Amino acid sequence: MRPIINPNNRKLISLVALILQTTGIVLLLRYSRTWKAEPYISSTAIVASEFLKGFICLILVWSELLHIEVFYDIQSVLNNKVTFLKSRQNKQIFVIARSQVEQSDNCSFARLAKKLNDEIYSKPVETFKLAIPSGLYAIQNNLLFIALSYLNAATYQVTYQLKILTTALCCVFMLGKKIDKHQWVSLCMLAIGVAFVTWPSSDEVTKRASTQIQKSWTQQFIGFGAVLSATLTSGFAGVYFEKILKTGPTSVWVRNIQLAIFGTIFGLVIVFLFDARAVMDKGFFQGYSTVVWIVIFLQAIGGLIIAAVIKYADNIIKGFATSLSIILSSVVSYFVLNDFTPSLFFFMGTILVITATFLYGWEKKVKATSSNEQVRI
Ligand code: C5P
Repeated sequence: MRPIINPNNRKLISLVALILQTTGIVLLLRYSRTWKAEPYISSTAIVASEFLKGFICLILVWSELLHIEVFYDIQSVLNNKVTFLKSRQNKQIFVIARSQVEQSDNCSFARLAKKLNDEIYSKPVETFKLAIPSGLYAIQNNLLFIALSYLNAATYQVTYQLKILTTALCCVFMLGKKIDKHQWVSLCMLAIGVAFVTWPSSDEVTKRASTQIQKSWTQQFIGFGAVLSATLTSGFAGVYFEKILKTGPTSVWVRNIQLAIFGTIFGLVIVFLFDARAVMDKGFFQGYSTVVWIVIFLQAIGGLIIAAVIKYADNIIKGFATSLSIILSSVVSYFVLNDFTPSLFFFMGTILVITATFLYGWEKKVKATSSNEQVRI
C-alpha cells in the first residue's frame, strides 16, 4: 500500500514539527509566568500527559487500521466486481456501499483490540523492553527537578547541554554509528553554543541573586550530580529507544503506547511517593487551568514528535532541532512578548549553534558529490 506521506518527507516534517512544538511550549511557559494562578502538582501533570500520549497513539493505530480496511474493501469490491463504474475520463471509481463502511467501522474496534492483544499483551518481552527508557525518563524528569531546586538556572542549563555529547557517545557505542572528527567538533560547538544562548543576562543574575536563598555546597553538589546523571539517562534512554524503533516491524505508535503504559505506571508511583498527601487534600487535578491543559497536550504531542524524529532522523539531529528552537523561541520572545533582551552571549551562542548545524551536515555532501563523480568516471 502506498504510504500517505512520502518517506523522504517524514524526516523533514518531523523535524519542523519538533522545532515548532518546542518553540510553542517554551513561549507558552514564558507567557504563563505572567499569570497568577493556583499552583498545580507537576508529577500529576506528567501522568496526565503520558496518559494522553497513549490515548492519541491508540487513535492513530485505529485510524491506520481503518485506512487499511478501506483499502481491503476497495480490493474486495474490485475482485467481486460488485460496484464498479467508469467515468467519462476513463478513471475507475469504486463505490463502497454505506453498510459496508459501517460494518468495517464496527470491525475496526475488534481489530484494534486484536492488534493491541497481538502486539502488546501477547509479546510481554517486547513490551517490557520499553520499561527501560520509560523508567529512565521518569527518573530523569525527577533528577532535573532536584537539579533545578539546588542549582542556579545557568549552571543547570549549561551542564545539561552535556547531554548532546552523552547522546553522541551512546550512538557510537550502542548503535555503532560513525561520527567524523569535524562532527565531534560541531557537537562540542553546539553544546557550548546552547550554553551561551541560555546564559542569563546580568539583570537576571542580580534579580535571581536577591530572591534566591544561597544553597550550601552539599546541596549544590547534589544538584550537580543530579543534572550530570540526567545527561547520562537522556543519552542512554534516547538511543535505546532509537534502537527499538529502528529494529523490528512494530509501528512507532504501538511502541509509544507501550512507552506510555509504563510512563503512566511509573508516574503514578512517583505521585504516590512524593505527592500523595497533596493529592488527598486538594485532588489530582488541582490548579489545572486551561494553560496547564494546553501544556499537558503540547507535552503529549511533543513525545510523539520526538519519537517520529528519532525514528525518521536520529537522536543527534534531534539535538540540533531542539537547540535551534531555543533560539527561535528567544527571537519570538523579543519581537512578540517583549520579555527578552538579547545579550552578547546570546549572539555568540546563536552563531555557534548555526555554524555547528552546517558543519555537522557538511562532510556528507562532500562525500556524496565525490561518490557521484566516481560513478560518472
Ligand atoms: O532531554 P531529553 O531530550 O532527553 O528529553 C526527552 C523527553 O522526551 C523526556 O522528558 C521524555 O519523557 C520525553 N519523551 C516522550 N515520549 C517519547 C520520547 C521522549 O515523552 N516517545
